[in-house]
Amino acid sequence: MTHRIASIPGDGVGKETIPEGRRVVEAAADKLGFSVDWVDYPFSSDHYLKTGEVLSDGSVREISKSDAIYLGALGDPRVKPGVLEKGILLKLRFAFDQYVNLRPIKLLPSVASPVAGKGPEDIDFDVIRENTEDFYVGIGGRAKKGKSGAELEVVRELYKTKFGLDVETDAEEIAYQVGMVSHKGCERIIKYAFELCKSKGRERVTAVDKANVLTEIYGLWREVVEAVSKDYPGIEHEYNYVDAVTMYFLTKPEWFDVVVSPNMFGDIITDLGAVVQGGIGLAASGNINPDGVSMFEPVHGSAPDIAGRGIANPTATILAGAIMVEELGHKDAADAIVRAVEAVMKGGKVRTADLGGNASCSEMGDAIAANLG
Ligand code: NAI
Ligand code: MG
Repeated sequence: MTHRIASIPGDGVGKETIPEGRRVVEAAADKLGFSVDWVDYPFSSDHYLKTGEVLSDGSVREISKSDAIYLGALGDPRVKPGVLEKGILLKLRFAFDQYVNLRPIKLLPSVASPVAGKGPEDIDFDVIRENTEDFYVGIGGRAKKGKSGAELEVVRELYKTKFGLDVETDAEEIAYQVGMVSHKGCERIIKYAFELCKSKGRERVTAVDKANVLTEIYGLWREVVEAVSKDYPGIEHEYNYVDAVTMYFLTKPEWFDVVVSPNMFGDIITDLGAVVQGGIGLAASGNINPDGVSMFEPVHGSAPDIAGRGIANPTATILAGAIMVEELGHKDAADAIVRAVEAVMKGGKVRTADLGGNASCSEMGDAIAANLG
């Protein structure tokens, strides 16, 4: 079986870590009887500065023929912040309606976590962040004293929504941001969380919100959690306010199995999760549409401060490769990659600078690929 995978190294350290990730995915594929046909795409700041193209609709249509997307990182000091992140990353997420952001939080053996007294058996859970709604729908505005109006629109695969606003204020200036969730949008992500809990044999779904203050959005969220949970009698569920969850990630990480969160709080708690698991060089993610084209990437950005020196840690990208092959139906290959990463961490000899060692990016990739052989 051959999978066609769009490869977008992007900027900075993405150009260094993606080749290592590809090598490891290929080693796993060889071992477990499938193959990968990489299709290279140049989208990055260099490409943008040279050609003016961020990511055209034609390119999106071409990428839609892929089975998955493997992305490095985007962002460059020469380009205005947001141009590439919005123009490529968010464009792909929305174009393929990748409504699930899957973030495994797993402490690897022999990796130091800043959480004292907790080991790999304590820190092992999945955070599912909703990726398309909530306060990140991107609508809002500013108004000056007096009367004004605004038309705000949210266009999604699932629906189109328009808000016509009449604004009247006696404040000098105001700014507002509109958040929204839909019943269907909540339902599909919450179902995904319960399904993941079931398929992984985990016990509990923890739903995050702030339903005591933001009563409308997270009130609906809770209603849907309650309704969906009825279909999963074997799985416990509970509610945590987001402020409490940030404490519990540190004080009792062993409590968590599957955590499901609306978009904005999910953004915040997943970075905390990356720290809990030992650092940004180890954190991987999947932007998933279970019925469409999904995209897999390290959580970190292009790291311009270390880019070009060959010292970036490729592990996050390699673990994103593991999530990718699992989504493509090769759980055995995903497990083999994770075991190889664990063996290298346990060995303790080959480590990049962020983990206190002096191995290069490619030496780390070599060591992990060799463990698969
Ligand atoms: P960053 O994640 O690129 O770097 C933060 C810190 O972590 C830096 O000290 C960096 O050296 C270190 N780091 C990151 N990846 C590492 C790795 N693989 N190995 C060892 N150390 C690593 O975040 P920053 O500096 O805030 O953003 C840099 C650029 O990346 C910006 O343009 C930003 O917009 C973009 N960005 C892109 C993301 C994406 O493509 N998904 C995500 C986050 C930021
Ligand atoms: Mg973030």
